[in-house]
This record gives sequence, structure tokens and C-alpha cells, in this order.
Amino acid sequence: MTFDVSRVRAAYPALSDGYAYLDGAAGTQVPSAVIEAIADAYRAGIGNAGGVFPASGRSDAILAECRRAVADLTGAVPEGVILGPNMTTLTYRLAETLSRQWGPGDEVVVSRLDHDANVRPWVQAAARRGALVRWAEVDISTAELPPGQYAELLSDRTRLVAVTAASNIVGTRPDVAAIAAAAHAVGALCYVDGVHATAHMPVDVGTLGADFYATSAYKWSGPHIGTVVADPGLLETLSPDKLVPAPAGVPGRFERGTPGFADLAGVTAAVEHLASLDPDPKTPKDPKAATGSRRERVQASMAAVEQYEAELFARLLGGLSAMGHVTLYGKAARRAPTAFFTVAGYSPREVAERLAARKVNVWNGDNYAWELAGAFGLRDSGGAVRAGLVHYNDESEVDRLLAAVAELAPDGVR
Ligand SMILES: Cc1ncc(COP(=O)(O)O)c(C=O)c1O
Repeated sequence: MTFDVSRVRAAYPALSDGYAYLDGAAGTQVPSAVIEAIADAYRAGIGNAGGVFPASGRSDAILAECRRAVADLTGAVPEGVILGPNMTTLTYRLAETLSRQWGPGDEVVVSRLDHDANVRPWVQAAARRGALVRWAEVDISTAELPPGQYAELLSDRTRLVAVTAASNIVGTRPDVAAIAAAAHAVGALCYVDGVHATAHMPVDVGTLGADFYATSAYKWSGPHIGTVVADPGLLETLSPDKLVPAPAGVPGRFERGTPGFADLAGVTAAVEHLASLDPDPKTPKDPKAATGSRRERVQASMAAVEQYEAELFARLLGGLSAMGHVTLYGKAARRAPTAFFTVAGYSPREVAERLAARKVNVWNGDNYAWELAGAFGLRDSGGAVRAGLVHYNDESEVDRLLAAVAELAPDGVR
């Protein structure tokens, strides 16, 4: 592997506590550079935005730089970057706004692969407007979301298609580009949940065909800030509820109240950090890419992350699938490195507790993938165990998880 994981791990102070952080799908640790960027913002002095004195100017600059950084991460333009507290809040806001244009007979399409944050806001908005909800189904044997079904689901009444770029429990990465193209062919918009995907792959909203792409910085080494990116021209057509004196232009009119400026500085530092993950110019196909613009560097780095994580994930899946007492859910062809499994004889919570005792952090439950957990028949039995790898995990951590799960075999050492 060309990816230097020990160099990467050294950037994260929290990783030195001896625990294997395999809970990244629920939120990553942050590198020193992010911690320092947030502290530096406060140290330098920040004010509210739009004032005439230097501390206010620093906040204006932090906000503008954060929009540029998120644009570089996603392939959007800064003028189309909406910032807010988290993805759920922003998605409810967009659902509220977009659904003003819906009426009885209109339709929205959601998927059973998605986190509930890209389902319920649309279902509830549709109910308020008398619109019909159609469901894209997951093939439970593989956890694929077959794109072919969208031909049946879409009609000239479809207003919006909501779909995830990666499942937060089984990692499935559906063919978003095909789904978005089908949506556009009937004149519908496509709202893509990139919260899980962004940490694991190079993102380009244009290639995905996403009219809206939502993500949360705390899943990719940043602070708790959410963002939705869109074409500013599209945002111009929308009128969210806002305070009268609040900004009238885009993207400002989508942002409610005073932002956490220091955290926004942390988001920029997180993008810089991602861009620096693979400084090795041999890894990207274009040898010049790693030394190019931040957009080029982040794309090259995330391609290296994707490759590194795939190798680590193969080790994890190989180990788990060799254990007779483990049931794995999902085997999609394209996956983020996220495993969802149950262990015979133990509830998911008991497994998580046993692993925590071995200093391995994993999640148990449905992880808000409410529909998919239901489709798997796991909703009423405590869900499953989720081990989510990110770029700072290494082989020794995967092996520690495998050893701890092996201990739970009926003939294992207890
Ligand atoms: C795939 C996915 N979508 C949406 C969300 C919700 O994001 P937020 O916590 O920023 O509201 C999560 C959070 O876990 C997620 O994993």
C-alpha cells in the first residue's frame, strides 16, 4: 500500500487512547489541524458577520473560505454551498422549501436504502402537500438498490428523487448517476445524501448528477457542521422561510441564524487535511494531481483513501465471513467500507459491549437506517453491529475486532 496510515494516524490525538475507533460511520475523530483551526479562530478574535471592525472581517473571511473548501471537496461552486448545523436540519429545511411547489397528484421517490434523514423529511412534506410517495426497494439478498426499478417508479408527476450515495449500514453505493439521469429525464430533481459517502470516495456532484448533495463534516474529520451544495441558479428559484432582515441572496437565505464561525474554520481545515492524506504523487493516475489545486489534491487523496479502505475492508469482510457464528448483511458490488453483522447467541448490544471491553468501538442498532433495518427484519431485535472503517484505521485494529468476535464463537475462548 502506498497510503501511509501511520503518518495519517499521528495527526489524530484521540487515536492514542488505545481504542480501535471502528465507529467512524457515526462520526470521526478530528486531527490536530482541525482542533487548532477552531482554537485559532477564537484566539484571533471573531465577531458576528458583516461588521466594520477586523474581528467581524475575520468571521466573514472564515465563512467565505469554508464555502470554497466545501466546493473543492464536492465539485460545487462556493455560491451554491449552504452551511448549517447538520444534514438532518438542512434536509428538513430543503424539504419544507421544495415542497411548496408540490400539490396533490405530484410524486416523490425515496429509497429503502437511505438513512431516515433522507426519507422522513420528504415523506412528511409529501403528506402535507397531498403528494404521493413511491419507494425504491433494496434487493435484500445483496443490499443493492437496482437502478432499473426507477423506470417504473418515475412519471411526469415526479417532482423529486431522494437517494443516498452510500448506505450508512451496509455501505452499498448505488448507481446515483443513472438514478439522477432517470429523474432528470422526467423533469424531477435529485437530492443525494452524501453523508456516508463523502468520507470514502472522491466526490463530484456534476458526475453524480446531484441537484442537491448533502454531507456532514463530522463524518470526514471535521466539526459538527452540515452542508448542502446545489447550483446557485437552482437555489435562486427557491424561497425558504427567513427573517426579514436576514440575507436575501443565495446561499445566505437558506442559512438560519448566526453560524458557528470557529467550527466553519474547522471545516476548512478538515478539507485541507483530506487533501493532504496522500501526498504521494505516484498514487493518483495523474502524477501532477497531488501537487495541483486543492480540488485536484482532494480528489487524488480521496482516490487513495478509497483504495486503502477497500483493501482494509476486504480483510475485515474476509475475516468475518469465515466465522460460522457471524451473519453479514449486504454484499453490494460497490461499497463503502462498512460492515453490518449479527453474532449468534448475542444481541448486537452485547456484542458491542464485549468489543468495547476489548477496546474496540463499534455501533449497535439500526443506526437510523430505519427502512433497511426493517427490510432485513432486524428492527425489533436490536438491529445489528456496525463496524465502519475510515482512512485512519489500520490492519491491527481490524485484526483486534476479528479476534474479539472470534471469542464469541460457541467454542471460542470466553
Ligand atoms: C447516511 C447518513 N445520512 C444522514 C445522516 C444524518 O446526518 P446529520 O447527523 O448531519 O443530521 C447520517 C448520520 O449518521 C448518515 O449516516
